[in-house]
Amino acid sequence: MKKGIYPGSFDPVTLGHLDIIMRASKLADELIVGVLVNKSKQSLFTLDERVELLKRVTKNMPNVTIKSFDGLLVDFAEEEKADFIVRGLRAVTDFEYEIQLAHTNHRMRPEVDTVFLTTTLQYSFVSSSLVREIASYGGDISAFVPECIEEDIYKKYGFNK
Ligand code: PNS
Repeated sequence: MKKGIYPGSFDPVTLGHLDIIMRASKLADELIVGVLVNKSKQSLFTLDERVELLKRVTKNMPNVTIKSFDGLLVDFAEEEKADFIVRGLRAVTDFEYEIQLAHTNHRMRPEVDTVFLTTTLQYSFVSSSLVREIASYGGDISAFVPECIEEDIYKKYGFNK
């Protein structure tokens, strides 16, 4: 039984994340989406909210579980007995950070490998920060996030859409 972990901040989850979740869930028997309790980043959504939004958008994916983690990703991977970590690569600009992360994690825990999935081209420029920026001005985010969470994002910026 192969277990994968897809870690991230998911503030909020985007269609790009969902694309990776759907594809990674086909590579693993069980996929855990690990939501980081990020102390250094001021997040728009609380941890519980980010977990709830992810649960909502993955509710039809039986082998996907949403969990939060605090501390090192490799420790979380060990606790969960995960076989691999999944990260999405949108463009070459992601590569430098991601290769550093993967090498560091591999050095700390050689048993767990990082698998990279290239984000589907239509989502290759989508990011949570871009979604937050557009929503903060009341702009149209429908091309970037699942429809069922759009309202939650607008609400954070005081828009009733
Ligand atoms: O969605 P993000 O913010 O790009 O995800 C980054 C994440 C969660 C993968 C990364 O920050 C992480 O793994 N943090 C946990 C702390 C850790 O293990 N740091 C050492 C890795 S170099």
